[in-house]
Amino acid sequence: MYTILKKEILAPNIYLMDIKAPRVAKSCYPGQFVIVKMDDKGERIPLTICDYDAEVGSVTIVFQAMGTSTKRMAEYEVGDEFKDFVGPLGCKSELIDEEPEELKKKNILFVAGGVGTAPVYPQVKWMKNHGCDVDCIIGARNSDLIILEEEMKKVAKNVYVTTDDGSYGFKGNVNDCIKDLVHNQGKTYDLVIAIGPIIMMKFVSILTKELGIRTIVSMNPIMVDGTGMCGACRLTVGNEIKFACVDGPEFDGHLVDFDESMKRQQMYKSEEGRAILKEKEGATHKGGGCGCSE
Ligand code: NAD
Ligand code: FES
Repeated sequence: MYTILKKEILAPNIYLMDIKAPRVAKSCYPGQFVIVKMDDKGERIPLTICDYDAEVGSVTIVFQAMGTSTKRMAEYEVGDEFKDFVGPLGCKSELIDEEPEELKKKNILFVAGGVGTAPVYPQVKWMKNHGCDVDCIIGARNSDLIILEEEMKKVAKNVYVTTDDGSYGFKGNVNDCIKDLVHNQGKTYDLVIAIGPIIMMKFVSILTKELGIRTIVSMNPIMVDGTGMCGACRLTVGNEIKFACVDGPEFDGHLVDFDESMKRQQMYKSEEGRAILKEKEGATHKGGGCGCSE
């Protein structure tokens, strides 16, 4: 069993929890995720790791209480226990394997959209711990929904906060902020890492392609069971078929077919949609967890 050590409400419906999970804390890296199962009946919830402390043996997760399971998870309190906390899963961020000396030569911009700020944080912290200064944009719809701003300021060189309604920081979406940095403030970047809603990652990738900046995105939002079994997270990257939970979650944003992913995500929600996908995708569909191959 995995005990909740800390619980915080970061914003309306957005929760942070520290979980006692020493084995995961010792072996995880930024970019990876865990699967949480509350009890025997609970569904498997894949969540990107927000922070970890190998000495304390804790892993920090951040989640939005949206569906039945995450709403139930939000009712758990300090001292309560989760049945399963499986991980680390997925591939670590590609930055982790790069030589810090090479990373230091690059101008890197992280773009964190809404709840996507949580998985951005451990990557920026890793960069700081390895002597690399990076910039970070935190985008939210309004001031109430900004999370981890103070924590991010401790690890990034510059943090630019932008709100869609202008209630705090720069007014506009994350792309407006990127354009302002590049066109008005003379910033140059070699790499962008964008993590947030799929629609945001799509439009950031379109913009950075125009600007000629290589871009990495995290396709965590399309995962369902996170085990490579259900087939939900299938996506096209360049000419290849990939599975976000096994081959990712991070991919080259200029190669991801975002429109297909968003359409597929909608279809996957209904039994009829899953049956159509199974027929269309044949042997590469995977299937099993969703019931469509039974
Ligand atoms: P949101 O809808 O409030 O968007 C956050 C910010 O993204 C906005 O303020 C805006 O600046 C930017 N954005 C949105 N649409 C845009 C567009 N078309 N062009 C440019 N910028 C745009 O975000 P939220 O409600 O906090 O996000 C929830 C979503 O984040 C869920 O869908 C969840 O799956 C996803 N998420 C993704 C990851 C990941 O690893 N990629 C991790 C956690 C959550
Ligand atoms: Fe990747 Fe199910 S989430 S196959």
